[in-house]
Amino acid sequence: MTAALTAILVGCGSGGEDLPPEAGTAVSQAQARNLYVRKCSLCHGDDGKLGASKSPDLSTSALTFSERVALITYGKGTMPGQKGILQKEEIAAIARYIELFRE
Ligand code: HEC
Repeated sequence: MTAALTAILVGCGSGGEDLPPEAGTAVSQAQARNLYVRKCSLCHGDDGKLGASKSPDLSTSALTFSERVALITYGKGTMPGQKGILQKEEIAAIARYIELFRE
């Protein structure tokens, strides 16, 4: 079930549109956190509030899950995209993880 889902996500070419609600759940929260710290903390900080390189505070971000996945996949402005660097499941898991910063 999990492997099949991952295969579907990796195989589909879209960047976050029409994601199944369970996207990202194949990657553990601990792994997602680890990826976030490695790839995102530099600008956003461990709690999403750092704001380096003029990055927005993730704890007040109102983007939907699909919007976050698309943004992390393709990047925006000075924020680097992760397409071809991280797996789709990993990107979805990070998009899920950063929602925990919201108050
Ligand atoms: C080099 C610095 C940098 C890194 C690294 C970075 N970001 Fe960003 N991020 C930005 C900037 C700058 C923006 C604003 C982009 C814009 O709107 O022009 C942004 C915007 C965002 C937004 C949109 C917030 C909103 O509500 O508008 C999210 C979500 C986000 N980043 C998540 C991440 C995640 C997850 C990672 C790691 C995979 C990451 N970022 C890595 C700089 C960075």
